Amino acid sequence: MKNCLPGVRTLVFDAYGTLLDVSSAAAALRNELADKAIPLAALWRDKQLQYTWLRSLQDRYVDFWQVTSEALEFAMQTLGIQDASMHAKLMDMYRALKAFPEVANTLRRLKEAGFVTAILSNGSTAMLQSAVRSAGVEHLLDAILSVDAVRVYKPHPRVYQMAVDHLGIDPQEICFQSSNAWDAHAASAFGMRVVWCNRYGQQPERLPGKPDFQIKTLDELPGLLGLD
Ligand code: 2OP
Repeated sequence: MKNCLPGVRTLVFDAYGTLLDVSSAAAALRNELADKAIPLAALWRDKQLQYTWLRSLQDRYVDFWQVTSEALEFAMQTLGIQDASMHAKLMDMYRALKAFPEVANTLRRLKEAGFVTAILSNGSTAMLQSAVRSAGVEHLLDAILSVDAVRVYKPHPRVYQMAVDHLGIDPQEICFQSSNAWDAHAASAFGMRVVWCNRYGQQPERLPGKPDFQIKTLDELPGLLGLD
């Protein structure tokens, strides 16, 4: 298959929702949460992202661990779940979220083909390190870049610039993969090449930028790079 991304040797991945399944924490407590497991996972994630955007607008950064914990408090209270030990258990699980099934094998193929791989995420450094360790993909990533370094959340251009600065290459030499459509659009508007991993069958955002390619799962990525 032909390489659809010529000039790209560096692949940067979003973490939450792209490599790591954010719904896996609530799903693991399905027995205890019963019919609240799915709404809790959805509200937790929505609120977590809203808080990153709102705090960035307010210029009041706190790290993603705190944002995630506060979003979970809000979601639990909204759904009438009053259980401090449940909050603690879910937060613990966030440190060890499951990777999507194709992630390890895809990263392995990319590394074997000589690509540089990195994460660029809202997650704090400690959260990301523990999640990739527990998912068993730590050795398949050359860099883990956290917004902690710039103290603002995606989609602020400073975040994407941090990846460019760290990797020491031009934005168009990077291909960024995200399942979060708004993140994919923002990286494209910034100047990176972008593959939108549209796991959830979402519609394209009406926002600046346009992903170069759309795939359903990450195992389609090697094919786009001419590796099949
Ligand atoms: C991440 O930065 C946005 O969740 C997303 O990992």
